[in-house]
Amino acid sequence: MAATGKHLSGQEVAKHNSRDSCWIIVHGNVYDVTEFLDDHPGGSKIILKYAGKDATQEYDPIHPPDAITNNLPPERHLGPVDPETVQKVEVKVTDEEKARQQRVAARPPLDEILNLHDFEAIARQVMPEKAWAYYSSAADDEITNRENHAAYHRIWFRPRVLRNVTKVDWSTTILGHRSSMPVYITATALGKLGHPDGELNLTRAAAKHGVIQMIPTLASCSFDEIVDAARPDQVQFLQLYVNKDRNITKRIVQHAERRGIKGLFITVDAPQLGRREKDMRMKFEAEDPSEVTKSGSDGVDRSQGAARAISSFIDPGLEWADIDWFKSITRMPLILKGVQCWEDALLAYDAGLAGVVLSNHGGRQLDFARSGIEILVEVVSKLGEKRGLKFPNEKFQLYVDGGVRRATDILKAIALGATAVGIGRPFLYAFSSYGLEGVDKALQILHDEFEMNLRLLGAPTIKDVVPEMVDASNISSHGSAIPGDKLYESNYEIMQHARLREVKPKL
Ligand SMILES: Cc1cc2nc3c(=O)[nH]c(=O)nc-3n(C[C@H](O)[C@H](O)[C@H](O)COP(=O)(O)O)c2cc1C
Repeated sequence: MAATGKHLSGQEVAKHNSRDSCWIIVHGNVYDVTEFLDDHPGGSKIILKYAGKDATQEYDPIHPPDAITNNLPPERHLGPVDPETVQKVEVKVTDEEKARQQRVAARPPLDEILNLHDFEAIARQVMPEKAWAYYSSAADDEITNRENHAAYHRIWFRPRVLRNVTKVDWSTTILGHRSSMPVYITATALGKLGHPDGELNLTRAAAKHGVIQMIPTLASCSFDEIVDAARPDQVQFLQLYVNKDRNITKRIVQHAERRGIKGLFITVDAPQLGRREKDMRMKFEAEDPSEVTKSGSDGVDRSQGAARAISSFIDPGLEWADIDWFKSITRMPLILKGVQCWEDALLAYDAGLAGVVLSNHGGRQLDFARSGIEILVEVVSKLGEKRGLKFPNEKFQLYVDGGVRRATDILKAIALGATAVGIGRPFLYAFSSYGLEGVDKALQILHDEFEMNLRLLGAPTIKDVVPEMVDASNISSHGSAIPGDKLYESNYEIMQHARLREVKPKL
């Protein structure tokens, strides 16, 4: 049945409430998803829960608004529903949710947030459990996640004195574009899990502060919404997960280029998503245990939390030979995101790419992968030795991400040869706790920290932050002054172990 221009009634939709005929309502429109059930990356069960009903509330945080229209053939778009006739989906407010709302009301005012760690401590208490699990989780024992920040504790400063630091300037250029600081907002998926405006919080704060946002392939807002929300001269990059269907990838890339995206960051550290057990445990707790290990008809395991569910399209067959194809479909600068040793950085340089992000995906992929900052030291040294390169380098730029929480962390990376660093979770935690104002405050904190630390380092500009200003001789010793687990005790959670299911007493 195709759309007729007439409104369907809620009663009619409600009849299609089974696997044999499954209609759902999203944003006031009715869709026949019967044939799509087994292809849904998140599994059929969650759709069937809303069969014959309005699924908008569940749909919104996890999908861009156009996901359903892009994935269903037009004949399955059945047309608008008469809103008066739709039965409201009853959302049960649990005691847990009431307690969370109370914690939200008890957030400290933003004036009392002094550093980026503070956002994490608040977010942990005020975010819905599932969202916290997705954002904060990392792979396996989360050792790399802890190491990412701890590695910065092994680098110490050698400041200079008696330099005129009346005026200090921490602006720079990234891929030739102005940035008010050597920082960009890195790509993080599913922004609406943390806040109804999702990634748009980042777009707006980035505009205000003159920093660059990297848009994720798996944003909750649509790509076009995010680009439309930017100011005309605002620079944005795109993070790309490469689809097994290269036509889809080509369409995404060329559309991004037409929309003015200034750099394509191809994620290369995720041929399979890491096991993020905190996220996976949420799934066990949220769903019927008898269903969670079932696979769909395509063999995709639906049991592994939000992350795995949304990423089954990523191509594990991506290889160096594909780089030429990317060059043939776009003129955007190409950067590999997730390079983890000098050998691959050298291959990227020799392949004529614009740069690499030395990153382990925020500890969410291979546990015991080294921190980006440690890899930076190795890459700068070896690319100097093998190709005579000096960093920072305009032609081949090095970026670092993972565990960056302070301007001092960033200045260490700059001193060691990075052009800029990416920051992920702190901005997610900022908008999950305080919306746009939170991200605004987070960026303001970084500005304030830059101003003070540049003065204390004796470096009036970013160009004056040189290798001689840091002692990184212990970077590979893999010990730290403050063990990561003890840092801001509340921020790193103790790992959970398997738990007994709740046993119902026999009557
Ligand atoms: C919740 C979350 C989602 C992420 N989603 C993506 C993604 O879709 N694509 C990607 O390349 N990296 C993704 N990343 C990795 C980040 O781009 C970045 O490498 C990492 O967050 C940096 O570490 P930090 O969070 O400690 O700053 C994600 C990270 C987090 C925390």
